[in-house]
Amino acid sequence: MTESASVIDVARQAGVSLGTVSNVLNRPERVAPATRQRVLRAIEELGFVRNEAARQLRAGRSRTIGLIVLDVRNPFFTDLAAGVEGAAEEAGLSVILCNSGDNMSREDHYLSLLQEQRAYGILITPISRKNGRIEELREHGTPVVFVDRGSTRRQCSVSVDDVAGGDLAVAHLIRQGHRRIAFVGGPASINQVADRLAGARAAARAAGLPKSAISLIRTPGLNVTAGRRAAEHLAGLPAGARPTAAFCANDLLALGVLQEMTRRDLGVPRELAIVGYDDIDFAAAAAVPLTSVRQPRAQLGQAAAELLIDEVSSPDSHQHRQVVFEPELIVRDSTTRA
Ligand code: RIB
Repeated sequence: MTESASVIDVARQAGVSLGTVSNVLNRPERVAPATRQRVLRAIEELGFVRNEAARQLRAGRSRTIGLIVLDVRNPFFTDLAAGVEGAAEEAGLSVILCNSGDNMSREDHYLSLLQEQRAYGILITPISRKNGRIEELREHGTPVVFVDRGSTRRQCSVSVDDVAGGDLAVAHLIRQGHRRIAFVGGPASINQVADRLAGARAAARAAGLPKSAISLIRTPGLNVTAGRRAAEHLAGLPAGARPTAAFCANDLLALGVLQEMTRRDLGVPRELAIVGYDDIDFAAAAAVPLTSVRQPRAQLGQAAAELLIDEVSSPDSHQHRQVVFEPELIVRDSTTRA
């Protein structure tokens, strides 16, 4: 097997210096057209392929953004990733998508991998409030921007006001006449879940309802299966004690609740009104279109990527920003009285 041609072979074949070959590869506008053509011909004749990994290591930073999300199966994150990709492509960057699966050791594994690969920077929806690895990365020069999560002023973040989102959801249910509302969501360690619950409780307080108006159904995850399990519990409650509405911490949970209620022939919203969160495409397409609190998913991703690119490309002028989008309630059949 022949060795792949090196930059030295190309320089020798074209009769130019190593610097000229490097310029043709990286700054072609600096090379006279005739010389550039001679070098390009030598590259083609020798079948030279640049070693991008070595080049990126020499440059100190690759051209690849690392995006670490909680759950790639959740369309919320794939919509968000599309926004990241759009901004990255604009800047001539690539994106590597990593799935922490809501698992701390996997999150740390990807943080280490991206550091070893000299990632251009990292966008992450972190699992917990504080992860020492993230602080370490930032201190060692890898910019980190939180996405779908707020942060302190020591770094950039892009999120939605989840307390306002929870308030919107439950204030709507209260206006629809509901006085026994279940909050379906967990684990409580996920900030977004805690904030949505805080907003739900704030809406109940504002309406003069007792704290007991909001009952908790904790779930082990934010997925359809956990939603179905939560609905099994709700359906098992005696009719007089059963909540008449459920506010779910995200749309996948809400779709699971809807699926189980439908399987048991319990009407939505007649027996149970349902509100989700994210407004992913499946919310509107559900058998009973879901009322949901919309998160601007693609904009979240785009804004986070733009903050990261600004931090890397303009380190002297960059100012950390904590961008917070406002949520929007999209009302559909799953809460409006049939
Ligand atoms: O990031 C935690 C949750 O917030 C995700 O499940 C996603 O649905 C968003 O709503």
